[in-house]
Amino acid sequence: MADKKTALVLGATGLIGSHLLSLLLEDKRYSLVRVLVRKPLPIQHANLQQITANFDTLSAYKNSFAVDDVFCCLGTTIKKAGSQEAFYKVDATYPYEAARLAKEKEARQYLIVTAMGADKNSRIFYNRVKGEVEEKIAGLNFPAFHMLHPSLLMGERNEKRTGEQIGQAVMGTLGFLMVGPLKKYKAIEGSTVAKAMLNIANQNLSGMHIYESDQLQELGK
Ligand SMILES: NC(=O)c1ccc[n+]([C@@H]2O[C@H](COP(=O)([O-])OP(=O)(O)OC[C@H]3O[C@@H](n4cnc5c(N)ncnc54)[C@H](OP(=O)(O)O)[C@@H]3O)[C@@H](O)[C@H]2O)c1
Repeated sequence: MADKKTALVLGATGLIGSHLLSLLLEDKRYSLVRVLVRKPLPIQHANLQQITANFDTLSAYKNSFAVDDVFCCLGTTIKKAGSQEAFYKVDATYPYEAARLAKEKEARQYLIVTAMGADKNSRIFYNRVKGEVEEKIAGLNFPAFHMLHPSLLMGERNEKRTGEQIGQAVMGTLGFLMVGPLKKYKAIEGSTVAKAMLNIANQNLSGMHIYESDQLQELGK
């Protein structure tokens, strides 16, 4: 068997990140799964290494970025963050800084979950931030850079997000209408995105790739 890989997960406590972490810990192709977290997770596993970090000073943990594959599932909402600036920090500044450090440490793959509609020229702030972070990371020229564009995420959360809950309810009722070219708008389970993310990493492709939500549905089956 080829050498086993090492992984770093950012956002391992979130909806997608927590599913991804479980999958990575079960995946025999990985010998080490490191997470950078604000608060340690209440789990133990022989392959798991937890680093408690302050994300405002990521360079203080630069050695943690010396892995094969970096998975970025960080994110917040403008409401939760409190301002557009605070949102930008979590959804763009931290992911880019992490990518910069990972490139310095010669990581091979960087995978990031942004969102459907990510576009640096968008008039919608959220989509523009997602597009900007992708463009900045693309400029680092990783051997492989994967951008995941899920639609509305479904799955259990500890917190209440009214807008998303309404979206999920509507999608639950009308999701069957999302066929053909509309498939990429259909809501997707966080667990499916996590599975797709891991499958993408294990394809060991080179170059830059964007995955729309309908592709993620397929890849995460
Ligand atoms: N919600 C949707 O419908 C939707 C749709 C498309 C794309 N997306 C995007 O998909 C990505 C993953 O979404 P998700 O729902 O899985 O995320 P989530 O459940 O909200 O988890 C977010 C992760 O980011 C971390 N985080 C948030 N603020 C932080 C901070 N200030 N410092 C350090 N870490 C911080 C959280 O850590 P803590 O546990 O420490 O807070 C958590 O691990 C996000 O980029 C999101 O924008 C979401």
